[in-house]
Parts: sequence; structure tokens; C-alpha cells
Amino acid sequence: MASNRTLGYSTTQISLHWIIAALVLFQLLFGESMTRVIRAQARGTAVSSADGSMGTAHYWVGIAVMLLVLLRLALRVAFGAPRPAGASALLVRLAGAAHWLFYALLLLVPLTGLLAYYFSDPFGDIHDLGKPAFIILIGLHAAGALCHQFLLKDGTLRRMLVPAR
Ligand code: HEM
Ligand code: HEM
Repeated sequence: MASNRTLGYSTTQISLHWIIAALVLFQLLFGESMTRVIRAQARGTAVSSADGSMGTAHYWVGIAVMLLVLLRLALRVAFGAPRPAGASALLVRLAGAAHWLFYALLLLVPLTGLLAYYFSDPFGDIHDLGKPAFIILIGLHAAGALCHQFLLKDGTLRRMLVPAR
């Protein structure tokens, strides 16, 4: 809705941003347990109980990310996003591209994870590429947010912390 595009993010949008960020961080930190579970299943060897539990957590946290992102995209389509503040048109476009790339990864990485779980290779290899892709994008995105906060001082970080509606 065009009329809503000048408003900031809602409480729900902000909560979803930080909950999804925390869940993705969990997946990146502990995803290798799932790799060990899958390898053990393929070889018919035993898995440690820690890897077994973390593998199960990886499965359900990944599904939660996918469902929460669908909800987030629906809200974004219904209510829009605030007009970006940027030093230049190029930076605004780059930030916008990073956001849509995030949405693509947030859907495709869990999807390839499910395919890897049920059909194994080549989906496992494709799914594993999600790790460096997320790390690079999160690094650029967080650096951008910190530049807005400390160099441009334009309140961009604040609008992802304080609800406008
Ligand atoms: C945002 C969601 C997700 C992220 C960020 C993520 C991330 C990761 C990471 C970092 C690894 C370890 C890669 C490595 O060993 O280098 C991994 C492995 C794996 N994940 Fe996920 N994952 C997600 C969702 C899912 C979902 C929903 C499933 C479905 C069951 C899943 C299934 C797997 C499997 C089967 C492996 C082992 C792949 C292999 O054969 O190497 N993941 N994931
Ligand atoms: C896994 C980690 C993260 C993911 C997946 C993620 C994803 C996203 C996405 C998709 C948007 C666009 C929202 C929209 O308009 O639809 C966004 C906005 C934003 N993110 Fe993140 N983010 C992550 C981590 C962070 C971190 C660590 C920071 C701060 C250091 C941050 C600060 C922001 C800010 C300030 C915005 C608002 C930008 C604007 O209003 O133009 N994010 N994030």
C-alpha cells in the first residue's frame, strides 16, 4: 500500500526481523551437527546424543524460519517498508538488492535443506553453500546498518528497533 510506505516498521515486523536473525545465527553456528547426522545415517554408524538433538533442532528451527519468512513477506507486501534513507541512489539500490537476496536465501536455504534431508546429494552440497552466502550477506548488511548509525546518523537502525505503529 503506497500510503503506508512512509511509515516505519511495525512491532510485528521488528520482532520478526530479530527472531529470524537469531534463528539463522543458531542454524549457522550449529548446522554441522545435521551434517554429522546425515553422514552417520549414510554410513550406518552411531551419532552422539548431542548431534542427534542438535540435528532435530536444526530441522525444526529451519522449518520455523521458512514459515516466519512467509509471514514476514506477506506483511511486507500488505504494509510495505519505510522509504530508505541513503547517501546515494546507488547505496539505496544496493541495500534494496541485499534485502531481496535475504528473502530469497531465507526461503531457498530451508527448501534445499528439506530436499537434502529427504533426497541427499546434490541438494546437500547446494544447501551447504547457504552458509558462506548468509555469512557474506549478513556481514555487508550489518556493516551497512552500522554505517547508517555511526557515519550517516540517519536513524535507520532505530527504525528496526523502535516501532512506528
Ligand atoms: C535458514 C535455515 C537453515 C540454515 C541457515 C541452515 C544451515 C545449515 C548449515 C550451516 C549446515 C552445515 C553445513 C556444513 O556442514 O558445512 C547445514 C546442514 C544441513 N541442513 Fe540446514 N539450514 C537451514 C535449514 C534446514 C532445514 C529446514 C533442513 C531440513 C531438514 C535442513 C537440513 C540440513 C541437512 C540435511 C544438512 C546436511 C547437508 C549435507 O549433506 O552436508 N537445514 N544447514
Ligand atoms: C541473519 C541476520 C539478518 C537477516 C536475515 C536480516 C534481514 C533483513 C531484511 C530482509 C531486511 C529488509 C526488511 C524489509 O524492508 O522488508 C532488513 C532490514 C534491516 N536490518 Fe537486518 N537482517 C539481519 C541482521 C541484522 C543485523 C545484525 C542488523 C544490525 C546490525 C540489522 C539491521 C537492519 C536494519 C537497520 C534494517 C532496516 C533497513 C531499512 O529500514 O532500510 N539486521 N534485515
